[in-house]
Amino acid sequence: MSLDTIQEARRQVEICNACRYCEGYCAVFPAITRQKAFADADITQLANLCHNCRGCYYACQYTEPHEFALNLPAVLAEVRADSWQDHAWPRGFAGLFQKSGAAIAVALALAVAAILYLAQALRPEEGLGFYAVLSHGAMVAIFAPAFLFPLAAIALSLRGYWRAVGGAPLRAAHLIAALGDAAKLRNLSGGQGQGCNFEQEDRFSDARRRLHQAVLYGFLLCFAATSAGTVMHYALGWEAPYGLFTPPKLLGVPGGMLLAAGALGLAWLKTRADRALGAARLWGGEMAFVLMLALVALTGLALYAATGTVLVPALTALHLGFVLGFFLMTPYSKMVHGFYRLAALARDAQGK
Ligand code: HEM
Ligand code: SF4
Ligand code: SF4
Repeated sequence: MSLDTIQEARRQVEICNACRYCEGYCAVFPAITRQKAFADADITQLANLCHNCRGCYYACQYTEPHEFALNLPAVLAEVRADSWQDHAWPRGFAGLFQKSGAAIAVALALAVAAILYLAQALRPEEGLGFYAVLSHGAMVAIFAPAFLFPLAAIALSLRGYWRAVGGAPLRAAHLIAALGDAAKLRNLSGGQGQGCNFEQEDRFSDARRRLHQAVLYGFLLCFAATSAGTVMHYALGWEAPYGLFTPPKLLGVPGGMLLAAGALGLAWLKTRADRALGAARLWGGEMAFVLMLALVALTGLALYAATGTVLVPALTALHLGFVLGFFLMTPYSKMVHGFYRLAALARDAQGK
């Protein structure tokens, strides 16, 4: 954690605690007013609670050229990213994939190459659809560890975060409160539900919250589609490829569409927003992460659309490569924000 950054955030938070004008905007200000002094861990928790809606920046009478030079959304974004890097396990990767879009692109290309190589080396003798490219057994052997290892790494990171911010044993009520806030993205709604100031500057817009919900629920639908396919394969002996009116497709096709549309929309908003009100040095890594989500969804949809054509082997390698790269980078890319934000919301619920 950069001491200068945390010191600067503390300076700004102390000014806000004296001013308190933005009290109703989000969960950050009530959390500030519950304290008089702010240890480094308190600042880290506030940073993970901030949703970067930017409302406080446009309301503030102390932004530049005032000598106080307040820019709370930006300094909290810097602290937030530093905290993910500090708690990441192993630590070095987080710095790389958070800030570098090129590193994400190289990792995705390597993942596609790895799938192509494995498809050659483990060529199945029989199989339908994408199982003709990579057998079910080979897919499980590749994706089970690629899914479980990142989850274990994230669990270790979150344990470190939780201890650092003084979290008490988690009760169901705190988790339910956090999930409710995350499901509605309450802190991106501008306090009175008027929307945030992300891309429209001092005008309000609900676009970011709605597009994020498309991404979040699209992602959950895709996850549910894969889980349904797993249950059908193992419990019912019903093997892929599945038709349109089966659970994997009924969940996966709308899920993929929502995820792709939401991610492309968020990427577009990102080009319109002022970089100086976020962690500007991480813009490339964040943009690559959003586009990676869109590519995961679009290649999945394309693979389905290409069923029965000569494009299936190439699209299978592309889609599985993107999914593999996405999973493996989850603990070290912007994707980790969902886990930390949930933890911060649960910790906040404990303090109320
Ligand atoms: C667990 C609940 C989650 C919460 C509370 C949450 C919260 C947020 C917030 C507050 C932002 C805007 C501020 C920022 O850029 O950091 C954001 C951005 C974003 N989130 Fe989430 N998120 C969650 C889960 C997810 C999931 C599961 C996905 C995708 C699978 C996702 C994808 C995105 C994307 C693409 C952005 C835009 C990033 C950017 O503009 O740089 N989020 N999220
Ligand atoms: S952001 Fe500015 S207006 Fe809002 S509480 Fe802080 S100092 Fe006051
Ligand atoms: S940017 Fe939005 S969420 Fe963050 S502290 Fe300011 S008002 Fe709260």
